[in-house]
Amino acid sequence: MQVSAIGLGCMGMSQGYGSNPGTHHDMVSVIRTSVDAGVTFFDTAEIYGPFVNEELVGEAVAPIRDQIQLATKFGWDIQDGKSVGLNSRPEHIKKVADACLQRLGVETIDLFYQHRVDPNVPIEDVAGTVGELVQAGKVKRFGLSEVGADTLRKAHTTYPVTAVQSEYSLWTRDPEPEILPTCAELGIGFVPFSPLGRGFLTGAIDPSASFSQGDMRATIPRFQAENLSANQALVNHVRALAEAQGVTPAQVALAWLLAQAPWIVPIPGTRSLSRLKENAGATEVGLSADERADLDALAARVGVAGDRYSEAHMKLVGH
Ligand SMILES: NC(=O)c1ccc[n+]([C@@H]2O[C@H](COP(=O)([O-])OP(=O)(O)OC[C@H]3O[C@@H](n4cnc5c(N)ncnc54)[C@H](OP(=O)(O)O)[C@@H]3O)[C@@H](O)[C@H]2O)c1
Repeated sequence: MQVSAIGLGCMGMSQGYGSNPGTHHDMVSVIRTSVDAGVTFFDTAEIYGPFVNEELVGEAVAPIRDQIQLATKFGWDIQDGKSVGLNSRPEHIKKVADACLQRLGVETIDLFYQHRVDPNVPIEDVAGTVGELVQAGKVKRFGLSEVGADTLRKAHTTYPVTAVQSEYSLWTRDPEPEILPTCAELGIGFVPFSPLGRGFLTGAIDPSASFSQGDMRATIPRFQAENLSANQALVNHVRALAEAQGVTPAQVALAWLLAQAPWIVPIPGTRSLSRLKENAGATEVGLSADERADLDALAARVGVAGDRYSEAHMKLVGH
C-alpha cells in the first residue's frame, strides 16, 4: 500500500478533545484541502462519534475519492451510541463492514483495522473474515491496532497484515522493543497514532491546563497536573530544537517519527487548516543523527510520568 508520508487523523473532529471550535463545513474543508497539502491518507473508525465521524469523512472525500486512501476500524460492540465492550465475531465484522461502506459512501475500504484485539475471538477467525471481505471486494487490506507481537504473527499467517496502528511518539515508545522489529521482519507498515502526544508534544499544553468534559485527556494519567509538570522537560527540549531550526515543535515530533523508517506513516489529528499545513510541512524537516540521538537520550533520561491510558483501557492494549 502506498500512501502519503503523513496522514490525517479525523477522530478529534467528532470526539476526544472537547467541543470542536470549527463547524461541520470547516471540517469538510480541512479534509478536502489536505489533498493540496499532499496529505491523502485519512483515518477514521466506526466508534468515532460513534458513526458521525465516518459520515463526515465520507461526505468530505466524495469529490476526491480517487485521490485518497481511506482507513477505518471495527471491533467494538456499540449499543445506544456507546461502546459496551469488544466484538470481533465474524458475523459482526461483516455487518460493520457493510455499515462502514454505507456511511463512508464508498465501494471499498482501503484499509480495515481491528481496533482492539478481542480475547473471545481467535485472531485467525478475524483475519479469515477480513480475507473474505477482501474476496468480496468490500475491503482492500487488513490492519490491526494496539496488537501484541504474537497475535500479529498469527494474524499475518492467516491473512497478510498491511499495517499496524498503535500509539507511538517521542513520549510513547511501547512499539519499539517488539512491534517495530516484527513489522520490519514481516514487511508490515506502521501507523503511529497520537504522534503529537495528543497535543502535548506541540508545546501547546502547559502544566496548568485543564480539560473539559468530553476531552479524554481528563481521564489520562499523563495529563494530570503533576505529571504534565514532570513531563515538561521533554517538550522543552523539542521546543528548543524547533527554535534552533526555525520550525515548530509539532514538526520536530513528526520529523522524529518519519526518520525512524520509511514505512512509518504518522497520522496527526487536527481540526485546523493552518495546523494541517504545519504538520504536513514536517516532511521537509530533517533531523540529524545527533539531534535524534539527543532527543532519544533525553527521553530515556527523563522518562514519562503517568500511563498513556486509564487503568481500564490499559488492559485492552498489547494483546
Ligand atoms: N487506533 C487507535 O486506537 C487510535 C487512538 C487514538 C487516535 N487514533 C487516530 O490517530 C489520530 C491522531 O491522534 P490524536 O488525534 O489522538 O493525537 P495527536 O495527533 O497526537 O494530537 C492531536 C491534538 O493535537 C492538536 N494539534 C494538532 N496539530 C497541532 C499543531 N501543529 N500545533 C498544536 N497543536 C496541534 C490537536 O488540536 P486541534 O484539533 O485543535 O488542532 C489535538 O488536540 C486520531 O485522529 C485518530 O484517527 C487512533
